[in-house]
Amino acid sequence: MTARYLENRRNFIGLTLYSYSQVLVSLRTSSAKVSETVLSYAELTRLAYNQVSTRIQNKVDFMLLAVLTDLHANREAVEACLAHAEERNADQFAFLGDLIGYGADPAWVVDTVMAYVNRGAYVLMGNHDLGVLHDDRKDMNPNARLVVEWTRQQLTPQQKDFIRDLPMQFELEQCLFVHANAWAPERWEYVDGAMEAARSMRATNAQITFCGHVHTPSLYHMNQAGKVAEFSPVSDLSVPLSKLRRWLVQPGSVGQPRDGNPAACYALFDTQQLELTFFRVPYDTEAAAQKVLAAGLPASLAQRLMHGG
Ligand SMILES: [Fe+2]
Repeated sequence: MTARYLENRRNFIGLTLYSYSQVLVSLRTSSAKVSETVLSYAELTRLAYNQVSTRIQNKVDFMLLAVLTDLHANREAVEACLAHAEERNADQFAFLGDLIGYGADPAWVVDTVMAYVNRGAYVLMGNHDLGVLHDDRKDMNPNARLVVEWTRQQLTPQQKDFIRDLPMQFELEQCLFVHANAWAPERWEYVDGAMEAARSMRATNAQITFCGHVHTPSLYHMNQAGKVAEFSPVSDLSVPLSKLRRWLVQPGSVGQPRDGNPAACYALFDTQQLELTFFRVPYDTEAAAQKVLAAGLPASLAQRLMHGG
C-alpha cells in the first residue's frame, strides 16, 4: 500500500469517526459530573483519535523544544530532566504520553505537565494514560491491573478530565508527534526496528516523526530511495537532521528506561537548525524505587528503575 493510500484511508476513518465523537463529546459536556461519565475503552480511544486533526501548527514561535515521553509517574526522573532542559534554555516542551503508570507519583506528574501546558507545552495521550480512565480491559495481567487501579485512586476528577482530553498526535511545521506510531496511533503497536520505522515514516508526510512507547532511545532515517537505517544515539552529541532524509526519533523513556541504563532519557530539538540532541540524565533512582515499594506496587517495578530494564 502506498503512503498516499494510507493517508486517504486515515482521513476517511477520521471523518467517519468524527460524527460519533461529537455525540460522545456532547454527552460528556452535557453532564454536570464529566469525570464520572463512564466510556468504554473503544469510545475513549475514538475520542482521543479524533483530536488528531485539530492539533496542527504551521509555524512555531520557539527555538529549542524539549521532548519528553513515558514519564510514568516518576517524579525524581521528571524533575531531573526538566531541570536539565531548563538549564539548557529549552523554550518549549512536548510530552509524548504515558504520563502515568508504573511509578509512585502520578498526581504530581500530571499536575506538573498541566502547569507546563498552561505555559504552551504540548502533550499527548499514551496507552497507560488511557488505561486509567476505564476498567473494562480483560487483557491485563494482575500486576498491571493493580498499578492501574492504584493510579486511578491517586488522581482527582480534574486530573482525569485533563487526561481524557489529550490528543493522540499533533503536528508542528514539518514534525509529527505521536505516542506509538504514525500508521495507527490508537492501536499502540511498537516501532522497535527498521521495518516498523519505515512503516511509520511512510504513513505520514512529516519529515520528522517523534514518538515514545518503546522506552529506549533510537533514531531512524530514510533516504530518498526509501532505504531505512538506524543511528545509535549518543548522549550530549547533537545530530543534524538533513532535509534530504526523513527521520523517526524516539527520545527514550524519562521514567522507566529499558536499555540497561537507569539514567532518564529525553531529547532537545533545535527547530531552526534541525539539530537533535539525546540526553541521559542520572537521577535518584533509589528514592523513586523506594516510593514504589512504599506504595505497595510490585517490587519488579522498583527493580526496573534500579537496573534500567
Ligand atoms: Fe510507556
